[in-house]
Amino acid sequence: MTATLRPALAEDAPALAALHASSFGEPWSAAEIAELLAGPGGFGWVAEEAAPEGFILARAIAGEAEILTVAVSPALRRQGLGARLVDAAAKAAVEAGADALFLEVAVDNTAGLALYDRCGFARAGFRPGYYRRASGPPIDAFVLRRDLTA
Ligand SMILES: CC(C)(COP(=O)(O)OP(=O)(O)OC[C@H]1O[C@@H](n2cnc3c(N)ncnc32)[C@H](O)[C@@H]1OP(=O)(O)O)[C@@H](O)C(=O)NCCC(=O)NCCS
Repeated sequence: MTATLRPALAEDAPALAALHASSFGEPWSAAEIAELLAGPGGFGWVAEEAAPEGFILARAIAGEAEILTVAVSPALRRQGLGARLVDAAAKAAVEAGADALFLEVAVDNTAGLALYDRCGFARAGFRPGYYRRASGPPIDAFVLRRDLTA
């Protein structure tokens, strides 16, 4: 089955929280996800088969946009869903008036770094100790930027 992409809605928040928990050690609650979607400039996309299998959350404010999170169900990775979600967010950011798309990614996130490289992001900064995990030392993050004006 080919997943379809559609805008994320407030009522998707519980399913998106479950997807987030299957992808990250520090899960976001449904309430936090709903708040980000409803917050200033917030938007998201869902990749759906019978149920949501991937999603991206972003926001666009004052000419700049930021990807807040992206996750794909472990069983459906490496099928192009992550790249489709990033491209959908980039398109929506352009429509919202942004000329650049930023994100932070942990320096040890091999899949995330490879995805963003593939999607046209370049390194724009470095944040030491940006991610605090339940155990272990804080992890540094790269700030990545994709130009949306081309
Ligand atoms: C990162 C993530 C969203 C990628 O989703 P995905 O649907 O597997 O990504 P795609 O299939 O669109 O991959 C696109 C390209 O990214 C690169 N890539 C993605 N995952 C990769 C991996 N594990 N190792 C190496 N390259 C990878 C490849 O170049 C891939 O193209 P290819 O399959 O033709 O080689 C997914 O691995 C995930 O949910 N990880 C946990 C959450 C996370 O780390 N999110 C990113 C940080 S916010």
